[in-house]
Amino acid sequence: MSLRVAVVGCGNIATRHISGYQQVEDAELVAMCDLDEARARDYAERFGGKAYTDVVTMLETEAPDIVDVCTREMHREAPVIQSVSRGFTTLAEKPLFAARGQYSVQADDLPVARRMVEATEVGGAELFMAYNYRFGDYAQRLKKMIEAGELGELQYVHAWTRLACWSHVIDLLRWFCGDIEAIAVAMSGPEDSRTRAGSLRFASGAVGTLLGEGITPGFHDMLRIRWCGSEGTAVLRDIAGGLELYPRHQRQRTIVQQAHDDPRGEFMQTFHREIAALCDHVRDGVEVPLATGIDGLRELEVDAGFVVAAERGEWLDLGGEWRS
Ligand SMILES: NC(=O)c1ccc[n+]([C@@H]2O[C@H](COP(=O)([O-])OP(=O)(O)OC[C@H]3O[C@@H](n4cnc5c(N)ncnc54)[C@H](O)[C@@H]3O)[C@@H](O)[C@H]2O)c1
Repeated sequence: MSLRVAVVGCGNIATRHISGYQQVEDAELVAMCDLDEARARDYAERFGGKAYTDVVTMLETEAPDIVDVCTREMHREAPVIQSVSRGFTTLAEKPLFAARGQYSVQADDLPVARRMVEATEVGGAELFMAYNYRFGDYAQRLKKMIEAGELGELQYVHAWTRLACWSHVIDLLRWFCGDIEAIAVAMSGPEDSRTRAGSLRFASGAVGTLLGEGITPGFHDMLRIRWCGSEGTAVLRDIAGGLELYPRHQRQRTIVQQAHDDPRGEFMQTFHREIAALCDHVRDGVEVPLATGIDGLRELEVDAGFVVAAERGEWLDLGGEWRS
């Protein structure tokens, strides 16, 4: 039996997801859905499946095993709710919702994101998020080392990123370090691309810093995460850049780097691995490190919290009231 996949939003990022399904032997692209009929037809001709312009009609006709929502962040609410409320396993692009665009997440985006998560629970569906940086080879190695206790207890973390990777890095920090409990933030620069400097306190008691650089995005030197534990320090340089390891009591360090000179190729693999993991989960019920809708909501709470903490000029508690 094949895994029947429907794509909603036939734009740029959809091609990356589609190329992931094309590598999965039993995945079958059965529907291409876009409000723009010409786009839906074009994708159906190029990649297979039937063209649709209405999500509900498509869901009721095709009953797919996977609904992959690749619309933009301000157009995510309707297709996700239509899909999860009918019980369909759904993958949503990131961030979960942002009415003004991904670099301008605000507190009033949170009720929308909560509705999406609630609809998932009511519909008895599974909602996953396309936080594909989790599927970088070095990111996965670091996660395994943390889980195995090789670096000891987290003491503190330093992270910086270009805004292009902002929500991914918040997700990675939560993945590597656990929930962020409180933040204090200062911002500068133009309204649509503000540089943001945050101090973080994690639920574990560890502390950290996170800088989002509001400068012109480029394709190199995009992000750095320095995870410092009681037994050693690890530095993640970009998703395809490398991983440096500094054991606490040794002078020796280990640098794990790309075996080939095609970082873009390794980056593309993150999409492929993520889609393969989703298919494994749906087909075989195996646990996979995909971010869930709740992870998407928590990421958005941190993101919106940055703006509010900067406005207030004081520490913002991200638990309790902020989550309701
Ligand atoms: N994971 C990553 O690394 C990564 C990288 C780039 C972009 N993204 C995310 O991907 C998302 C999509 O970006 P894009 O550049 O592909 O957008 P896009 O504008 O190229 O494509 C979006 C498509 O969705 C369609 N659409 C909108 N509402 C719809 C609806 N209700 N039903 C059906 N179709 C609908 C539009 O007509 C459009 O064709 C963004 O949120 C972005 O943040 C993620």
